[in-house]
Amino acid sequence: MSRSAHPAGPRHADVLHEGHYSAPPADLNALDPKVWAHTVSRTEGGVVSVGGIEVTRLAEEFGTPAYFVDEADFRARARAWRTAFGHDADVFYAGKAFLSRAIVRWLHEEGLNLDVCSGGELSTALSAGMPADRIAFHGNNKSETEIRTAIEAGVGRIVLDSFQEIVRVAHIAQSLGKRQRVQIRVTVGVEAHTHEFIATAHEDQKFGIALADGQAAEAVRRALALDGLELIGIHSHIGSQIFDMAGFEVAARRVVSLLAAVRDEHGVELPEIDLGGGLGIAYTSEDDPREPHEIAKALGEIVTRECEAAKLRTPRISVEPGRAIVGPTAFTLYEVGTIKPLDGLRTYVSVDGGMSDNIRTALYDAEYSVALVSRTSDAEPMLVRVVGKHCESGDIVVKDAFLPADLAPGDLIAVPATGAYCRSMASNYNHALRPPVVAVNDGEARVIVRRETEEDLLRLDVG
Ligand code: LLP
Repeated sequence: MSRSAHPAGPRHADVLHEGHYSAPPADLNALDPKVWAHTVSRTEGGVVSVGGIEVTRLAEEFGTPAYFVDEADFRARARAWRTAFGHDADVFYAGKAFLSRAIVRWLHEEGLNLDVCSGGELSTALSAGMPADRIAFHGNNKSETEIRTAIEAGVGRIVLDSFQEIVRVAHIAQSLGKRQRVQIRVTVGVEAHTHEFIATAHEDQKFGIALADGQAAEAVRRALALDGLELIGIHSHIGSQIFDMAGFEVAARRVVSLLAAVRDEHGVELPEIDLGGGLGIAYTSEDDPREPHEIAKALGEIVTRECEAAKLRTPRISVEPGRAIVGPTAFTLYEVGTIKPLDGLRTYVSVDGGMSDNIRTALYDAEYSVALVSRTSDAEPMLVRVVGKHCESGDIVVKDAFLPADLAPGDLIAVPATGAYCRSMASNYNHALRPPVVAVNDGEARVIVRRETEEDLLRLDVG
């Protein structure tokens, strides 16, 4: 089988049409630092290493597929956000991107707070020693049990998402003899430039309370009137994987105008605003993400300016980056299996994982990069689609990419920037066993979430 008999050239039009790579990269062996974790590099022998350990050794020890997270990189990114926002602001890592006890400990050590959105995330955070007062509790349909557990634990804030919840949280807090610190999540009416399923500030969706028709002002009125609540601020999250700061600026401006209206109506200056998460990362070389210090500067300036104009004291700002911290710090390592060249189309490269470890391509049409990491190759570039082993034709990991034409079963390939929303959205479809997460740091690798086993699957099946 000669895969090189299918040169990339004739298929460029097709690739261009889909808006992905227009041409193969100049050097298929190069690793673009934009998409790979900091300590990833190619050794002299050609094998890629992370944290000083070669992927061939990692594959032998931990198997494939597996996620490898660069601990030093995670800590550095967490610290960069912390430093950029300084002492007058708080950074809440969004646990939904990826959460485990090790992650909680790293965040705690780096001085970050944590945003959780379920009882499961809350118990993970508490069990790993995150102080409750540094936890924010989110969700559009929190259960009574979740609310009670969060209040009993003493979470720093609950972000209220509906009129019903305002009453529910107040009632539960009062029954526990507590006054719960809360924020109200508003929808500011911004159309974020991202996939529809991850845009959250337009009005026709399930999150938050609309600013536009006076609903948010009414929510503030009700929250201020309830003894069980201490309203500390307003929350806005406009969506995810966003590069353009304009949406955040509009959101900040509208949130500040609500603060001014609240001051005018109630004589109360709410002390905090939370501008959510959503900053984009580089999945391919074509993405150009903003650095935390640029984001902090832009948000700080706009809030200060708007507050000065409205004669308000500048509130304490908080943000909730998830993807921007963990996303770039991990990659998924796969072993190449079946290789199927389709004449005049592309070559399908099957790996030992798929949509069960990365649903983002199928769900959001997400783009990823891929590289041959167990060796270098001087072969011609070959246009590939990296697919999984599931019984579904939409089981695609990387839609369009180039790999060397001498790729063979047994080679290891890696998909970078899979730290966010991959393990956390992993499934057991086709009874796949969810891969482990291995932390690599300074020549040492340790499992932080172990691989699922067939016993794990069977343990739940009690019929
Ligand atoms: N804060 C709130 C209230 C959120 O709902 C989210 C994400 C974040 C912060 C963190 O956003 P980030 O900085 O990670 O973009 N599964 C989708 C993303 C869904 C995001 C949901 N909320 C994906 O894989 O792209």
